[in-house]
Amino acid sequence: MEFDIRPAKDEEMGQLGLMGSYSYAGAFGDGEDNVVATSTKAEWTLCAFDDAVRTDKDQATMATSFCAFPFTTRVNGKAMAMAGISTVGTRPEYRRMGLLRKIMTRAFAEQRDRGQTIAGLWASQAAIYQRYGFTHAGLNRNYAVDTVDIQLAADPANAALTQPVVNRYTPAQGLDAAREVYKNFIAQRTGYLHRGKSLWLNSTLDETTPDGPVYIAIAGSLHAPLGYVVYTLRANLVDNRARAQEIKIRDFAWLDLASYQSLWRFIGKHDLVGRVTWANAPMDDPALALFQEPRMLHSQDTEASWWRIVDVAGALSQRGYDVEADINIGVAGDDLAKWNNGCWRLSTEEGGAKASVAASSKSADVTLSVKSLTSLFCGMYRARDLANWGLIDGDASAITRLDRLMATQYAPHCPDHY
Ligand SMILES: CC(C)(COP(=O)(O)OP(=O)(O)OC[C@H]1O[C@@H](n2cnc3c(N)ncnc32)[C@H](O)[C@@H]1OP(=O)(O)O)[C@@H](O)C(=O)NCCC(=O)NCCS
Repeated sequence: MEFDIRPAKDEEMGQLGLMGSYSYAGAFGDGEDNVVATSTKAEWTLCAFDDAVRTDKDQATMATSFCAFPFTTRVNGKAMAMAGISTVGTRPEYRRMGLLRKIMTRAFAEQRDRGQTIAGLWASQAAIYQRYGFTHAGLNRNYAVDTVDIQLAADPANAALTQPVVNRYTPAQGLDAAREVYKNFIAQRTGYLHRGKSLWLNSTLDETTPDGPVYIAIAGSLHAPLGYVVYTLRANLVDNRARAQEIKIRDFAWLDLASYQSLWRFIGKHDLVGRVTWANAPMDDPALALFQEPRMLHSQDTEASWWRIVDVAGALSQRGYDVEADINIGVAGDDLAKWNNGCWRLSTEEGGAKASVAASSKSADVTLSVKSLTSLFCGMYRARDLANWGLIDGDASAITRLDRLMATQYAPHCPDHY
């Protein structure tokens, strides 16, 4: 069978919508105009078409759908271009014929040409993407806590902090202040997306769900915001005779510990709420260290977004570092992005602020797969962990050097699903 692999045309975007509606069984809407189709531009797609089988509009049939949003993310203090892969699906009639592998291989080459040195996605099934070199870039920490258990442990150092006031706003009133906090919150972090207004409105602040309306509580003031929590509040969702309401936290960002604590205290004052959920806290969220009874958070970690380095030389040179070091990194076995294989000399200067990468003819100090390198790159695992598991070759001093170099100030995290 012959397939044409190319971006969809504008007039074929209805097919993309229908592919999304079938692949995800309506989770993102049904029909041609669902959110899968309307949030994507034709030029961001790369699809497989069967010209021989015509649709009722006399178009070639879309056999596989695929798109990549042109996101900007952050890696340890630096902004980086990322391809946010989404809308992946093959019609069952065309599955197991190698179409996704073909598209993925071509997409990596095109992403590299566009300067998108990393690719990210949310996986319906991890097995699909691990074979393409994707690895965890953070986990979602899920909390479910009764408001009576929102008690922060007394700590002499914390007690001295002045708690900012917290006020609640509508999305329209609080958006600018939240955006300002978010920008500062993510500056040194890894994995968060640069959010344009439409990402805020269609994701974090989306009110077209049964959970709405959406509220934003701001710590500090609208003019000098220090933190925010975005949440919904609904009656009769909890099996509790006195506290049957539920708060769902969608997004939480803070610029200092006092603001973080004051926002939890604000949530804790909702006496009719028997359950507060936060399904996408970061792995290094401080609540477990601050709550009087951390077990009452019922903390549970689940899979979140996945990353893959598309261009090793580009990605390593664009990332932020906190130390000066040199190391020869050997990458082996990358069959989908062969330009990554080889030995790369990574050198950082000016306290880590400046990084350069060059192909090296010397022998590698450490050798690993692109998947293991990606997990180090984003701060998901330490080099020592990977070495203990047998996933890096290298002597102990090289592993320690790599760990110092790749350490991120924060654990990787992406609260936005795409
Ligand atoms: C996942 C999906 C897009 C794969 O499409 P496809 O065109 O059949 O993929 P390919 O034929 O290129 O197969 C890719 C590889 O994945 C494997 N594979 C496919 N589906 C798989 C699954 N569900 N679990 C594990 N492995 C899978 C194939 O065996 C193949 O392995 P190989 O390349 O090492 O030989 C298709 O099964 C699908 O549409 N699934 C439902 C929607 C979905 O889950 N989309 C992903 C959303 S994030």
